[in-house]
Amino acid sequence: MSQPKYVGKMEWPVAVQIGKGLEGAITSETEIGYVDGEKGWLVYRGYNIFELAENSTFEETTYLLLYGKLPTQKELDEFKQKLVSYREIPGEVIDTLRKVPKTTHPMAALETGIGMLGCLDPDADKCTMESETEISFKLIAQMATVAGAIGRLRQGKEPVDPDPTLEHTANYLYMTTGKKPDELMEKVMDVAMILHADHGMNNSTFTTMCIHSTLSDMYSAIVGGIGSLKGPLHGGANEQALAVLLKLKDEEDATRYVKDCIANKKKIMGFGHRVYKAYDPRAKVLGKFSQDVTEKKGMGHLYRIAKRIEDEVIAAYGEKGIFPNVDFYSGTVYYAFGIEPAMFTPIFAVSRISGWCARVLEYFRDNRIFRPRAMYVGPRDLTYVPMDKR
Ligand SMILES: CC(C)(COP(=O)(O)OP(=O)(O)OC[C@H]1O[C@@H](n2cnc3c(N)ncnc32)[C@H](O)[C@@H]1OP(=O)(O)O)[C@@H](O)C(=O)NCCC(=O)NCCS
Repeated sequence: MSQPKYVGKMEWPVAVQIGKGLEGAITSETEIGYVDGEKGWLVYRGYNIFELAENSTFEETTYLLLYGKLPTQKELDEFKQKLVSYREIPGEVIDTLRKVPKTTHPMAALETGIGMLGCLDPDADKCTMESETEISFKLIAQMATVAGAIGRLRQGKEPVDPDPTLEHTANYLYMTTGKKPDELMEKVMDVAMILHADHGMNNSTFTTMCIHSTLSDMYSAIVGGIGSLKGPLHGGANEQALAVLLKLKDEEDATRYVKDCIANKKKIMGFGHRVYKAYDPRAKVLGKFSQDVTEKKGMGHLYRIAKRIEDEVIAAYGEKGIFPNVDFYSGTVYYAFGIEPAMFTPIFAVSRISGWCARVLEYFRDNRIFRPRAMYVGPRDLTYVPMDKR
């Protein structure tokens, strides 16, 4: 049977401009937050991130992202209680995590753990606003527990049960290290979690929304988000940035490293951003923490090496809008607190779960499946060649 032939160049109904990497594309309207890349602002629900870093807590900020307003004391207490009630994870999840090879990256283990939570939740496929909201609370609480267990099992240690008397961040640190954190560690890590909780239409957030827009389930969406965050161009940059710092002896070595990257056109991990063309406000806060915490922990050289890299990169690329991003200094802070580098990106996931859930729920209210197109530029008039003629 003869088939119609599509010959000539593909015709598009309107002039099409491709924003490579979806640059310039607007997915939806949102009231959750935004990044002003020119001014270097990050805003959650109308509050500048500096305000929240100074005054809020991770739980309160999570409530703000989900509900669009700061909670009253009663609302916050109830919300915290809900997290306490969901914090423990089923034994089957721990059993599954025990089977993950120790050589597996913790982010892949996190995908597995969250996937298993979904398998065990009878409400996973209900996909109503009510069920997805409740699952969001579970996931916000349990991401920390799963990440904590992964950190322990990797080191051949037994997972630690959550302590209902501890706040969310303190609990996460307790389940990771097996020790209750001191005041400094709890405060600094809580602010770091606030800074990472949401960040405009970033890749992992878009991934979660994209998956959920098919009316798949919340667990699948979050597993996808973890997979996206794992990449070194996204959340995985924090681990890589620290790996570089640990290889450098001193500031002169740092200068040599940057000059080598520039000469060989190699990207420097922890720098640059699609949206920020000014200094990332999160890096401002974390840079200060890095200076204080590394000094206190006798690792001041790490900060000095990092600062030299920052100065050299800004001198070379500042005019192009390349500055440190959130991932440059965060690793130095976590490392100074004794957290192993492979667990840095899971900390990001334990924080970003709040933004992921808030944005999936917001989009779900007026859902439409995401379905972009690509411009086909390949051949169009080929005739099938039988196997013996190829
Ligand atoms: C974040 C990132 C992925 C944004 O990517 P993007 O918007 O697609 O930008 P591009 O990769 O196209 O970079 C644009 C230009 O800046 C340069 N650039 C971007 N980030 C750079 C970096 N970290 N080091 C050196 N140059 C960088 C690119 O080489 C490119 O230069 P050119 O125009 O001369 O070719 C990118 O900046 C990057 O790879 N950074 C390192 C990884 C990282 O820290 N990720 C965490 C983000 S929070």
